[in-house]
Amino acid sequence: MDIKERRNILVTCGPVLEDYLSAELGGLGFEIVSSHRGGIITRGSFIDCMKLNLYLRTAYNVLYLLKEFRCGSSETLYKQVGHLPWENIISPQEYLCVLSRVDTYSINNSMYPSLKVKDAIVDRIYKKAGSRPDSGPDRNKVVVNLFWKNDRAWIYLNTSGLKLSDRNYRKMPHKAPLRETLAAGIIIATGYDGSQDIVLPMCGSGTLAIESALIAMNKPPTGLRSNFGFRHTKVFDEQIWRQMRNEARKAVRKGPLERRIIATDIDGKAVTAARQNAKTAGVEHLIEFKECDFSDTEVPKGEGILIVNPEYGLRLGEPEKLAKEYKRIGDFFKQSCSGYTVYIFTGNREFAGKVGLRTSARMIFFNGKIECRLLKYEMYEGTKRS
Ligand SMILES: C[S@@+](CC[C@H](N)C(=O)[O-])C[C@H]1O[C@@H](n2cnc3c(N)ncnc32)[C@H](O)[C@@H]1O
Repeated sequence: MDIKERRNILVTCGPVLEDYLSAELGGLGFEIVSSHRGGIITRGSFIDCMKLNLYLRTAYNVLYLLKEFRCGSSETLYKQVGHLPWENIISPQEYLCVLSRVDTYSINNSMYPSLKVKDAIVDRIYKKAGSRPDSGPDRNKVVVNLFWKNDRAWIYLNTSGLKLSDRNYRKMPHKAPLRETLAAGIIIATGYDGSQDIVLPMCGSGTLAIESALIAMNKPPTGLRSNFGFRHTKVFDEQIWRQMRNEARKAVRKGPLERRIIATDIDGKAVTAARQNAKTAGVEHLIEFKECDFSDTEVPKGEGILIVNPEYGLRLGEPEKLAKEYKRIGDFFKQSCSGYTVYIFTGNREFAGKVGLRTSARMIFFNGKIECRLLKYEMYEGTKRS
């Protein structure tokens, strides 16, 4: 396989993060070929895939297209997949996982096609090399993805392996942590780029604060990760990767930051976890942590961004108490956040109404299966109750 050959690349993401992912791809100089639910197609080489794995903040997986073909049966699937030169891509000593998404009239479960693809790959390698890779469900080595829709099939090499939301910094989880890719999407949606103060009361395990600090420093989100799918392929070039990481390191803004990042939580254990996670991510020195009620959080004078992610009452918390908390959040915005653009990220619309302020925008996100809103409020001097 020629690692410089330009092919289609499917970058997958969580639901409704496509626009943020598109913007990120555009910012890195990649064209948008098409946008789909849960993914964007761009073009580039295997080397470009390595770059995308390093830099993208909202992506799950970066998939490099190996083959697209007409496919009406599992026999055709086996034959077509077996024509690819797998012996040049996967060593017999490696471990392989095949993931499938199938939506075709003849087959309605994805287990069987996965098995067919796996068989085609290992049989081909066995024929050429005399031994074959092990296979199974673990996604931390070589991963191949099959998409089969009606009479068309696509085979991709998954250059990420494990999802890119696994950044490796959240060693200490706390209650209801946001997925890192979702937290990055929320921060990007607010327009934060490090040139504003950002205040994060109810910080929990610190995901929003850490993602903000990574953005402010221009630090690659997956800088801590050493395991990517592409590293397990035969075509991986260590030298190119090292050079790429060095370039990324050189582009990191040197501290101290011009503006402040403040993260607070009423629960001391959350603050300890957030501080430890920030330390692991290498950004602890950029974030001011404090244990306090959200209403006692320092909001620096002037303009800035503030985001709260309170409990929704769906999984945690008691409804009546939470309704009062949302009202208190509204009071805090009015009393302490003048000049700020403030946001609530919540999965509970009923409580959101208790804030008692007029939203200037509502952006939809999904936290797992829960539909959530990022509600935006402009706190001009003298903002009135709606
Ligand atoms: C949904 S969690 C935040 C999760 C966080 N975004 C993360 O990714 O880890 C809500 C947080 O609000 C905190 N909290 C609840 N009531 C609070 C209050 N009155 N003042 C400050 N923090 C509070 C909880 O301790 C919890 O850590």
